[in-house]
Amino acid sequence: MSIQTSNPSSNDYSKALSLIAAHSHISGLGLDEHLQPKATSQGMVGQLQARRAAGIILKMVQNGTIAGRAVLLAGPPSTGKTALAMGLSQSLGEDVPFTAIAGSEIFSLELSKTEALTQAFRKSIGVKIKEETEMIEGEVVEIQIDKSITGGHKQGKLTIKTTDMETIYELGSKMIEGLTKEKVLAGDVISIDKASVKITKLGRSFARSRDYDAMGAETRFVQCPEGELQKRKSVVHTVSLHEIDVINSRTQGFLALFTGDTGEIRSEVRDQINTKVAEWKEEGKADIVPGVLFIDEVHMLDIECFSFINRALEDEFAPIVVMATNRGISKTRGTNYKSPHGLPLDLLDRSIIITTHNYNEQEIKTILSIRAQEEEVDVAADALDLLTKIGTETSLRYASNLIAVSQQIAQKRKSNNIEVADIKRAYLLFLDSSRSVKFLQEFEPQYIDDHGNVQIASGANNSDAMDTAA
Ligand SMILES: Nc1ncnc2c1ncn2[C@@H]1O[C@H](COP(=O)(O)OP(=O)(O)O)[C@@H](O)[C@H]1O
Ligand SMILES: [Mg+2]
Repeated sequence: MSIQTSNPSSNDYSKALSLIAAHSHISGLGLDEHLQPKATSQGMVGQLQARRAAGIILKMVQNGTIAGRAVLLAGPPSTGKTALAMGLSQSLGEDVPFTAIAGSEIFSLELSKTEALTQAFRKSIGVKIKEETEMIEGEVVEIQIDKSITGGHKQGKLTIKTTDMETIYELGSKMIEGLTKEKVLAGDVISIDKASVKITKLGRSFARSRDYDAMGAETRFVQCPEGELQKRKSVVHTVSLHEIDVINSRTQGFLALFTGDTGEIRSEVRDQINTKVAEWKEEGKADIVPGVLFIDEVHMLDIECFSFINRALEDEFAPIVVMATNRGISKTRGTNYKSPHGLPLDLLDRSIIITTHNYNEQEIKTILSIRAQEEEVDVAADALDLLTKIGTETSLRYASNLIAVSQQIAQKRKSNNIEVADIKRAYLLFLDSSRSVKFLQEFEPQYIDDHGNVQIASGANNSDAMDTAA
């Protein structure tokens, strides 16, 4: 079987947008060249210990020495676990795949749990493919296209030269289409990839610079190439194993990459691809680039998912798996066992754990003012103090959400400057979780409970513990 690897240029369609918006101020881990965290850098504030640890992980990923291992980010809500993962992703660079999913996503897709996880794993493994292609590179002397009278079949000739030679090529319909689409004219310097018949316009030949007036100011002039018309060039592109799966899965086709509607991929297809990729690696045609799979809110997974992950980490091609959780000692879903962070012990045993801690007042203040900048709104000094106080007493995320709400309230009075009064109104309009819990406890009988019952008259209280974790 011949394996296709052509790469649709978008490489981050798999990153969940919603995960990123709240972290749009973060552009990296904020480390110096020795991987030491700077107090505030690249949008990152404090949490130095965890950032230093993440820096070591970064180094290991870049060196390819950590594939098949797991990292657990553990800490209370709003302490920057997701932010750290986003910072790591930004620091990795273009060629290392990074995939982010939330634990709960696994259950909401139209795929089985294991298929969804398999796809996430394979999205996180890059294959760097080196290909030699034949290129024709030269200046177009003449293009001649004959339309048949019936308008159907087209034929043509392309005369193209370098400073040393000139050749005439017969044109097939695909070439004619390409030349027409690129609006190639005599005097253009072009390159043609012979395998894919991809035509690229490199510029206008200097010999034609007197056409300048007719071509407009944005025209780029280049030298007519020298030497042979046909050249061998080696090109490198990185695709993920998942992309190769989809392109080669006959029922799906690569359009599925854009719609995300990939369905289940047959295991035979994956087996064949694994064999082929291993062969390429052996022959020096490809390198495997283990990337990062980030599973946020990992406690949402159940025991079947965890044992799948355990096994997948031992696979020949395995990424590094970074997980985040805010659970302490708690039950693993699908079992009756309690364990640290709700993770089964065998997976926990394999993981290195990075803990995050609550921020102090100054750090909260800095983060909130960075968020305000990011949302392009001015916050008065006393308003920022109030916001910080709310942040320390409720949560960073709640305070951060109040920025957008207060901005709306400020805009009502045609101002883009948040004042204390705007924050007070926002605080009264929108409850944080602890006030919401208080409210619920007071008015619980009016709500529908887990069993679908609602009491009309207030009375007996059922006192299930409330889960308040964000
Ligand atoms: N150290 C930090 N520097 C800058 N922003 C941070 C930092 N920690 C958290 N934030 C921001 O605070 C908000 C809550 O953090 P988040 O990463 O979602 O917490 P967690 O995932 O631990 O619940 C997000 O908007 C996040 O970008
Ligand atoms: Mg989070």
